[in-house]
Amino acid sequence: MKNHALEQALEEVRHTLDYWRRQEITGFDCSAEAVKTVMDWPAGTVRKKEGSGPAAEESLEEIRADLGDCRRCRLHRGRSRIVFGEGNPRAGLVFVGEGPGYEEDRSGRPFVGPAGRLLDKIIAAMKLDRSRVYICNIVKCRPPANRAPAQDEIDACLPFLKRQLAAISPEVICTLGSVAARTLLQTRSPISVLRGRFHQWMGIKLMPTFHPAYLLRNPERKREVWEDVKKIMAFLKIPL
Ligand code: URA
Repeated sequence: MKNHALEQALEEVRHTLDYWRRQEITGFDCSAEAVKTVMDWPAGTVRKKEGSGPAAEESLEEIRADLGDCRRCRLHRGRSRIVFGEGNPRAGLVFVGEGPGYEEDRSGRPFVGPAGRLLDKIIAAMKLDRSRVYICNIVKCRPPANRAPAQDEIDACLPFLKRQLAAISPEVICTLGSVAARTLLQTRSPISVLRGRFHQWMGIKLMPTFHPAYLLRNPERKREVWEDVKKIMAFLKIPL
């Protein structure tokens, strides 16, 4: 197995075991000691890449500090601010978008432009608000002219998103748009095929749905998003 594939496999084992431990699942040795053993597996055999690896007990503040004044990809050249993500560090629901737009870049906050205002309405329709969920993106710096992030830009940023998700350990991840769904699910399938049913990411339920910016251009698709959102509400036991 290539180092990269081995690292990925180890990361999945670590996260799954840690998730089982948090869920207090029995029948496996999910003790803190066993998790630590698995965390230490790669030592000396597989190099821990910068920004990757076990995220077990680190905080969002630590991850933000590690990100620093990031210059790991070319997107840093055009950005005003890094948009790390915001919300409840213990959220049961995390929304993952694509990348900051103009207003997000100016403010340093995710989803505060027109698409963000629609996302706020979706969150309100779920009987939640921003303080109860966490909102972040696949890339943390605005791509020029709002183009889709390139694969190498995604690759540079993804380890930090993975660590954020592991630190929050939500019950559900809702990906917004095709870039977020395809990146986390490692598939090329179109969003129209992926949306509407739960997938799994590192033992966490993942619901892909359309991006609010797409809904602004195609309001007739809002009905499908509402169907997706209702499935998340049912799973989180939020009454309609
Ligand atoms: N679109 C996104 O994908 N993310 C944001 O933060 C804003 C718009």
